[in-house]
Amino acid sequence: MLQGRSLIGPDDFSVAELDRLFELTACIKDDAGYLRQSCRGKLLAALFFEPSTRTRLSFEAAMLRLGGGVCGFAEPGSSSASKGESLADTIRVVSSYSDVIVMRNPKEGSALLASRYSSVPVINAGDGGHHHPTQTLTDLVTIKHLRGDFSRLTIGFCGDLKFGRTVHSLASALSRYVNVKMVFISPGELKIPEYITQTVLGKNNIEYTETDRLEKVISDLDVLYMTRVQRERFLNEEEYIRLKDSYILTAKLMKRARDKLIVLHPLPRVNEISVEVDNDPRAAYFKQAEYGMYIRMALLASIMGVV
Ligand code: CP
Repeated sequence: MLQGRSLIGPDDFSVAELDRLFELTACIKDDAGYLRQSCRGKLLAALFFEPSTRTRLSFEAAMLRLGGGVCGFAEPGSSSASKGESLADTIRVVSSYSDVIVMRNPKEGSALLASRYSSVPVINAGDGGHHHPTQTLTDLVTIKHLRGDFSRLTIGFCGDLKFGRTVHSLASALSRYVNVKMVFISPGELKIPEYITQTVLGKNNIEYTETDRLEKVISDLDVLYMTRVQRERFLNEEEYIRLKDSYILTAKLMKRARDKLIVLHPLPRVNEISVEVDNDPRAAYFKQAEYGMYIRMALLASIMGVV
């Protein structure tokens, strides 16, 4: 169903296609031998023009676990981009060496551009402040596995909702499910962009509220999605320093939350979740990172057409 397809934005796959990916992810998670060696002879090119730990290494681990190979670079200084080569030329060449390309690039729209010049599928691993669809797959599968489904879900997004591409992608993806409510918790300077609230949520009649007070709304939430303030996207360092500790989730604040709350975070974390919360059974962010590898295995196997 997904054979030969690129993944650029959070809505590229239908809800039915996502359900199939979630089922496949469960099989991979539960059976260490499932799909092993299924991608033998396939090569993943991982082109990271921006830093990454989870996305790059989970993609590489996923392809290696499927029996395939990996090549690529972890920072643009070691590629010919540093000599002025265009993204289009880089992609034309790399797609002649590989079977699938995973790319992270600071420019919004770069993944779409890459897909137009590539002869193999392109997976967007983050394009600036725009989208990060495989983080969204990770977030969705984690909620699905821990909660069962998405119905009557109230999710709070907290932190840097302006630059946080994972928030933009997850809000878009969840707006396709019924009876989902969203609460956007941010300082005024880091509010969710209007194109998300007015176009994406408005189009799907999604109920949402905005606030700057986490302590006022935490008890209403089924899922709390914490995010870091994205230092690398600020033009003004003083502004970053002023806003960086706007929210810190502490054990004291968790006392106000529901027993079944699920706390997610795409990671990396800086200061926004106190380490004392890590041992709370409601803290699911490290489990979430693990699910990220399983769902990337399911995605690669599907795009390679081996399932
Ligand atoms: N969540 C995420 O994208 O993490 P990395 O930046 O480490 O890949």
